[in-house]
Order: sequence, then C-alpha cells, then structure tokens
Amino acid sequence: MDYKLITEQLSALSEGVTSRVTVLSNASALLYHSLGRLNWCGFYLFDGKDLILGPFQGRTACVKIPLGRGVCGTAAATGKTQNVPDVHKFAGHIACDGASNSELVIPLYVGGALYGVLDIDSPEYCRFSQEDEEGITSFARLLTDIIGKTEKEII
Ligand code: SME
Repeated sequence: MDYKLITEQLSALSEGVTSRVTVLSNASALLYHSLGRLNWCGFYLFDGKDLILGPFQGRTACVKIPLGRGVCGTAAATGKTQNVPDVHKFAGHIACDGASNSELVIPLYVGGALYGVLDIDSPEYCRFSQEDEEGITSFARLLTDIIGKTEKEII
C-alpha cells in the first residue's frame, strides 16, 4: 500500500476546507476505498465523556462507546493503538458488524487533548501488518494536524 500517496491525497482533499465533518468524511472514504479488504472505517469522537459515532464508511454502527469499553474505548482510555488480529479473542470487543474479524484502532489527539479514535475493521483475520499500522498512523497524524487548523469547532 502506498501510504505516502494516500497521505498526499488527504492533504489535497482538505486544502481550504474549514469543516471538521468534511475533512473526516473524506478521510474515511479515502481510507476505505484505498486500503481494500475492509468492512468498516470511520471515526468515534470524544465528547468529554464518551466516544460518539462520527463520519464513516460501512454498515450502521453503535452510536456511543464509553471510555474503556471495547477496542475503541480501550485505545481512547490508554492512548495506545490497538492492532487486534482476532477481535473474537479481545475481551469486551463490541460487535457492530458481525463481518469484522480484525480491527485497528488509533487514538487521535488535537492540541494535546483526546479528540477521538480512527477505527478500521476487516473481515480478514490479521489484516493489519506493522507496515499498515505505521502508514495509517502517519495518515492519522496528518489528519489531526489538519483538524487542529480548522476554524470551526463543532462541524
Ligand atoms: N468493534 C468496536 C466497536 C465499533 S465498530 O467496530 C464500528 C469496538 O470494540 O470498540
């Protein structure tokens, strides 16, 4: 996977965009269609208490995840990326889409504060290699830089 290319595409797509929803929506579509072998890709955003469903690609998903719950809540609560090769072996995994077998969740910070998580699910076991994790982490870093520069706080 050419992570440099998709990171450049995110940059180009976000140029002059002041809406966070717009940036996140295109970021989820870009990842979903570029990476392949996924069944869900999107964002849960931290409202100060819970993680709330944000822009995504895939089937409808649970709308709220408490910190510390599931793979997403664990990433958000610990600040550590969760690369889970088999979600059925992850204690507390929340099954939104029964097709998911592996999952990568990267916590996102804007201005040093928890902003949310990037959640990517695959029907394949062990879908995300070390190289994928590093590439998607770079993508997420650029994304949070862009989000930090947007003018609007809410949308
Ligand atoms: N599986 C996630 C819940 C979100 S869905 O995958 C979209 C979790 O355990 O946190």
